[in-house]
Amino acid sequence: MTPPIVIIVAAGSGTRFGSELPKQFLPLCGQPVLAHAIDAFRKALPEARIITVLSSSMTPLWNNLCLSHGIEPTEIVAGGESRWESVKNAIEAIADAPPSSIVLIHDGARPLVDNGIITRAVAAARNTDGAIPAIPVTDSLRRLNSDEVHSEPVDRAPFRAVQTPQAFSLWRLREAYKLPYQPGFTDDASVLAEAGFSNIVLVEGSPRNIKITTPVDMLLAEAIIKAYGSANPTTLQR
Ligand code: C5P
Repeated sequence: MTPPIVIIVAAGSGTRFGSELPKQFLPLCGQPVLAHAIDAFRKALPEARIITVLSSSMTPLWNNLCLSHGIEPTEIVAGGESRWESVKNAIEAIADAPPSSIVLIHDGARPLVDNGIITRAVAAARNTDGAIPAIPVTDSLRRLNSDEVHSEPVDRAPFRAVQTPQAFSLWRLREAYKLPYQPGFTDDASVLAEAGFSNIVLVEGSPRNIKITTPVDMLLAEAIIKAYGSANPTTLQR
């Protein structure tokens, strides 16, 4: 079986977080956020090829962080203006890889991904059009009216919040990323679906696998790491 390929997208500027340094480079319990994400894949898939997508302006900073924190470097690809473009650049950079390779695409801003999520995604992607981790929505939901003041209640039962890593075979990804960009392409499954790959299955995600978006998420991530003793425990009760 060909070894999996991991693409970690970390070329965002993190404007919603509000710090000068994009959130993926901020320290979280002694290591940059991004380093925790890379480490999770090294532990779960030791044979995988790992590619980190970074904006060109942040690459020198990341190289310095790798040196100062003892992080083993990965392959680096230059990111684009949107997440979609960053993923597309990485797909183009692995032109030499076998089409049957399973590719996992992960947000560098999700440092708490664990072994279970990664292995479930890889296993499910082998005989489907793709696999995405998801969790039930716990808040009540309302749909905003066009006046953006009034709203209607929505039944939350059929909804799931989608996480990463999302896993697909490389040939499907190559096919789907030939489509022109659409604003609705906020994750990879939406690109694959638009290309006609309909057998994309959900695998169990985790409420711990948060995407660092605002400063409160850093506090939450720190508390989770302290409670579990590791950012990416290999054995976890679901
Ligand atoms: O903006 P959002 O939080 O949805 O970004 C998800 C992931 O995509 C982040 O890890 C971010 O760094 C990455 N990204 C990227 N290139 C962009 C925009 C976002 O790699 N141009």
